[in-house]
Amino acid sequence: MQIMGTFQEAKDIFHWIAPELEHLEKTLCEALASPAPLISEIGTHLVRSGGKRLRPALYLLAAKSCEGFDAKKAMPLAAAVELIHMASLVHDDVIDHAQTRRGAATANAKWGNQVAVLTGDYIFAQAFSMVSRKGYTEEVGERLAALVQGLCAGEILQDSALYTAAHDLEEYEQRIAMKTADFLSICCELGGMVGGASPETCAGLKAYGKAIGMAFQITDDLLDVTGDEGRIGKPAGNDIRQGVVTLPVIRALETSPDRDELRGIVTNREMTDEMVARAIEIVRASDGVAAARVRADEYLEEARRVLPETVGGEAREAFLEAAAYIGQRDF
Ligand code: FPP
Ligand code: MG
Repeated sequence: MQIMGTFQEAKDIFHWIAPELEHLEKTLCEALASPAPLISEIGTHLVRSGGKRLRPALYLLAAKSCEGFDAKKAMPLAAAVELIHMASLVHDDVIDHAQTRRGAATANAKWGNQVAVLTGDYIFAQAFSMVSRKGYTEEVGERLAALVQGLCAGEILQDSALYTAAHDLEEYEQRIAMKTADFLSICCELGGMVGGASPETCAGLKAYGKAIGMAFQITDDLLDVTGDEGRIGKPAGNDIRQGVVTLPVIRALETSPDRDELRGIVTNREMTDEMVARAIEIVRASDGVAAARVRADEYLEEARRVLPETVGGEAREAFLEAAAYIGQRDF
């Protein structure tokens, strides 16, 4: 089994925080040990299935860039953000009836929907347990709550827009901000807050996180059209099949000579594999791919611009490398 987007790959980019990321893996395993053997088994499966650990890495990077960094204090929150991400994916895979993620079977495919939903709830509660009584400020708790509220609202918003062709850039960007960019943004901001950075630096880190988050999701959406299953760990055309209309498709719906045919496919809840393949073909032949690439690059440029001057040295280098990694990733 090939594991996609592994911890190892992310570790090379975040080598400055390698000891903290190493420790994070241990903390995650401990957090998912439960008196219920099945939850421990699923937790081990989820941790071993990899993942880029991008959210805790950004948080730790931001925190370590501050003079007031204390690894012991920072770690529970690093684990909490990854656990929230993990729980949201477990629930998302139930909603989407997904069979594979990161090249491995999803929890719902392996253990059924009921166990998957309850395990997601358990992991979610465990995330909040990690941060309670750790002396974080009230603001930290508020950010975490806002983050989860945004994720849920974003999922509902996306759901209400499924299999529809009336999309524009603004609506798309609001959707991806809620599901991805706000999360990355809050991770960067939380790092600054826990590290004791000034409000200006925290605001700059937040803006950096938002910009790379937007680029990250646009790249993800692009890969759904341009990537191959062997590399991205889930079937290509997944978004189209599930009725999620993304930037390359929105653009193709405006400019492709085959836009009427494309509209017919993406709004069809009964679309066949052949129709998905044809939709991908139409989008690939249009300027949708280039348009999405340009938009992602604009956000990466913005990320570099808004990164606070106060973030220097190895932390700065790593933040810039992270932006480059997001721009180049093909999984
Ligand atoms: C993956 O996106 C899913 C999300 C980013 C968030 C899903 C959020 C929820 C289900 C609600 C939050 C729940 C908890 C417990 C915090 P995607 O479907 O675009 O990506 P994918 O192709 O990798 O599935
Ligand atoms: Mg999904």
